[in-house]
Amino acid sequence: MKRFAIAIDGPSSSGKSTVAKIIANKLNFLYVDTGAMYRAFTYACLKNNIDPKDEEKAISLIGKINISFNEENHITLDGVDVSKEIRENDVADNVSYISSYKDIRVELVRLQREIAKKANVVMDGRDIGSHVLKNADVKIYQVAEAKERAKRRYKENLAKGIECSFEDILKNIEKRDYIDSHRAFSPLTKANDAIVLDTTYMSIEEVVNSILKIIKDKGLDL
Ligand code: DC
Repeated sequence: MKRFAIAIDGPSSSGKSTVAKIIANKLNFLYVDTGAMYRAFTYACLKNNIDPKDEEKAISLIGKINISFNEENHITLDGVDVSKEIRENDVADNVSYISSYKDIRVELVRLQREIAKKANVVMDGRDIGSHVLKNADVKIYQVAEAKERAKRRYKENLAKGIECSFEDILKNIEKRDYIDSHRAFSPLTKANDAIVLDTTYMSIEEVVNSILKIIKDKGLDL
């Protein structure tokens, strides 16, 4: 059966996950947060006392840990819901190292493609339109200025009860932008056929409506 895939890529905190979740909900598609998978791998390293900068040790976990989504669509590590742990600062500070290792990317991309084979998906990440799902029906490249993104993540963390400083978040976002877009294998990049949406001055509702219009204009019979 033909599956539909909507790919939403862009830098950290550009609002991808918020709008991807709403769109998935409206279309009754599965939302797939691929960033959560890289974060869960990073968390697994920290939990096993592996320095995320040590590529050899980090990749030794491939095949030994199980990363998946449970019935509530929460990220799990070896069956345990780690959705809160993966948002902590120690994970955010180290995830760019983990997501730059080719072997880890190959493994997580394999899992992402498996998920997209079984369901209609809205998948967000950095390389979904350019690499993971090259044949996605709709590709969005969502951006926003770094300061605005830091503001959004700061508010999000406060709402979740996670203590943080705005300056640290901004530094982390700028550092991750750099590493994500400069890594050798599958960097953050706009697919040639992706539509760019700058959300700096847009509300969530405006972004959602723009994407829904793009989906409709593509002629998808949803
Ligand atoms: O979207 P996020 O901030 O939760 O992503 C966490 C990290 O994972 C981010 O630094 C980039 C990386 N990532 C990636 O390299 N490829 C993806 N498809 C998704 C995330």
